[in-house]
Amino acid sequence: MDKTTSIIIGSDHAAYELKEKIKAYLSDKGYSVEDAGTHNEASVNYVVFGKKVAGAVSSGQYSKGILLCGTGLGMSMVANRFPHVRAALCSDVFSARMSRIHNDANVLVLGGRIVGDVLAFALVQTWLDTAFEGGRHLERIQSIDN
Ligand code: RB5
Repeated sequence: MDKTTSIIIGSDHAAYELKEKIKAYLSDKGYSVEDAGTHNEASVNYVVFGKKVAGAVSSGQYSKGILLCGTGLGMSMVANRFPHVRAALCSDVFSARMSRIHNDANVLVLGGRIVGDVLAFALVQTWLDTAFEGGRHLERIQSIDN
């Protein structure tokens, strides 16, 4: 598996539809996407899917993950409990960009009830295309886990 082009994604029912659209968008761009669920619009507990994606990033199995729920808040709370996970809830392109440059965010979180499809694609693309700047920011992010 090529970690640079493989992404794990998960959502609850509230963002299932947006997850499916993002999956299609990423597949079109040549990314390989692992879908951790949920797989339909039946009501589920977002924590289950947040743990699956955050766990896979925390363990190093995937270098990047995307999580979605209605607001993105619950998924952020879950994901940021995991060691080495830096999950960024973004609804503007500047934050998505800065979450990579300064924070080396390895999980992007979106609110399916907050952002529309076109903005979501722009957030995902910006986040994936932007590199971590390192330098003084490396020590800062390392101190989160230390
Ligand atoms: C589900 O109704 C909703 O609570 C969930 O998607 C999420 O927004 C939680 O933070």
